[in-house]
Amino acid sequence: MDEKKEISFRVQRFDPQLDTGIYYDNFRITIEKGVTILRALNYIKDNIDSKLTFRVFCQAGICGSCAMRVNGVSKLACMTQVWTELETSSENDLILIEPIKNFSLIRDLVVEMEPLVEKLKNYYSWVKPKMPASEMGKKEFSISEETFQKYDQATDCILCASCVSECLMMEVNPEYISPVILLKSYRMNVDERDAMNEVRLKKVASDKGVWDCTHCYKCVEHCVKNIDIMKGIHELRHEAMTKGLHRSEGAKHAQAFFNDIKRKGHLVEATLIPRTLGIFKTLKMVPTAIKMFFKGRMPPVFVRSIPHKRYVKKIYKNLKKGNYSSKR
Ligand code: SF4
Ligand code: SF4
Ligand code: FES
Repeated sequence: MDEKKEISFRVQRFDPQLDTGIYYDNFRITIEKGVTILRALNYIKDNIDSKLTFRVFCQAGICGSCAMRVNGVSKLACMTQVWTELETSSENDLILIEPIKNFSLIRDLVVEMEPLVEKLKNYYSWVKPKMPASEMGKKEFSISEETFQKYDQATDCILCASCVSECLMMEVNPEYISPVILLKSYRMNVDERDAMNEVRLKKVASDKGVWDCTHCYKCVEHCVKNIDIMKGIHELRHEAMTKGLHRSEGAKHAQAFFNDIKRKGHLVEATLIPRTLGIFKTLKMVPTAIKMFFKGRMPPVFVRSIPHKRYVKKIYKNLKKGNYSSKR
């Protein structure tokens, strides 16, 4: 006998022609085990409220259209099981459905993807072939196995924007390049057939780019294809540094971190800001520093002796040599 349950779907709604703000509708339906969130929404649309609006295409985890937040987490509706979600639901037999975050809302669960498309264009998220057009099609334009291995995982990206929805930096600054564009930039930049490496890298390493990532790892945690997005971000940073693109504040900040660990085995927080922003910008921050001082949130000027500093320096040295070992 099929297992069945009555389940409530609390779905975020918004019709720009009728509503001044968002609200939630509750739909209570009977669901069998094995049904996806997308099938449940289709049922609601076909049988209860035909106005319910969401994007869907492949229904097989390939096109990325159906990304939405299920119980507060960005996922593909077509790949997410209702019964599995019930296990993590904060309320019994209730599933919360909302649009992905960090995009403006068009209607119900549909968001405006145009800013992401613009970023794909602005950051040159495609391979521009080195091979002249006259030779195209006449001979093979292949890549090495080694290169393929570097970007293979990144090609699994289906542009669903779940990582963008979960990115903490995007919440603070919508102009931030975004995790998916960084991933695409990495994928294109390691491709030896590409002729735009330098231009792309310069763009990615500028303001609002790769240095603004806060390392929260939310993108990795929530990528629907389990792609290690941070690997791409680290590789892009490394490439920017080795190619001399270290003038941005983000690059200077990272360099100050490296230098502290290399020389002292700990961070000298009191001087991190001037080394990152320069003296002029630091002086402008004096009022903020005074406020922080009175709230007891200033970093210590004199660093207390930290145990195992030599060990930390040794880790750094070994990492630089590429032979990290946890032995002291
Ligand atoms: S690690 Fe960086 S790119 Fe990824 S979610 Fe956090 S801030 Fe965004
Ligand atoms: S990186 Fe992952 S979560 Fe982000 S758009 Fe691509 S597939 Fe979706
Ligand atoms: S409908 Fe295509 S990924 Fe879900």
